[in-house]
Amino acid sequence: MTTDAREHWNAVWTAKDFAETSWYQADPTPSLVWIDRAITDGGSIDRVVDAGCGVSFLADRLLERGAEVFGIDVSAAAIDRLTERIRTRGENDTTLDPSRFHGVVCDLGRDDPAPDRPLDATIWHDRAVLHFLHGDARERYAAGLRRHLATGGHAIIAGFAPDGPQMCSGLEVARATADEIAALLGPTFTLVDVEIRTHRTPWDAEQAFQWTCLRRTPPAG
Ligand SMILES: C[S@@+](CC[C@H](N)C(=O)[O-])C[C@H]1O[C@@H](n2cnc3c(N)ncnc32)[C@H](O)[C@@H]1O
Repeated sequence: MTTDAREHWNAVWTAKDFAETSWYQADPTPSLVWIDRAITDGGSIDRVVDAGCGVSFLADRLLERGAEVFGIDVSAAAIDRLTERIRTRGENDTTLDPSRFHGVVCDLGRDDPAPDRPLDATIWHDRAVLHFLHGDARERYAAGLRRHLATGGHAIIAGFAPDGPQMCSGLEVARATADEIAALLGPTFTLVDVEIRTHRTPWDAEQAFQWTCLRRTPPAG
């Protein structure tokens, strides 16, 4: 992703309220359903990366459950808004500890979000981010995921389904099958489950999303 893309996303997050975006959800129910499935598969929410978090309410819901959350986004405007919302909530609401939220500005198609140390995440969650990346940027994203997801951890990746929309936020998306996502992540990942779910935009359009969950297994031998 280029500087133009950073500008694109900062412009989106500066100009729009969350509820004006096509990906808006008042509550991230599908993400929580998939995270609970990962827990059933032996996973945990100890340390969750929300890749391309935007201003999603997923961080709030996970913090309420005691998780440590790393919200990563190419847009500093999104990270600032999300961090401020969580900080303000934490002032009046003891069900959430804002110090367990870490906002990171990073282009996941280009850079490592934590070059100094692996994040050792138990879950890597991505709703509609990898699908914006093309070519080498997808490989760099996968390398970052592999570096920061602990062995035994789960990658939950949602993007437009293979027969879903071709554009999102005015950008062309790269749709992929579950097998293609598994191949991108590499041989230490096992496909746990895949499902197509319909997302309804605030203006009632239907978008087919593919949800994929993969578990990171120890390397053979
Ligand atoms: C369609 S929105 C989804 C936001 C959030 N995951 C949700 O479900 O509400 C895509 C998000 O990915 C971010 N993004 C796009 N490209 C990115 C990249 N290369 N690295 C990190 N974040 C990126 C955008 O700034 C935006 O917040």
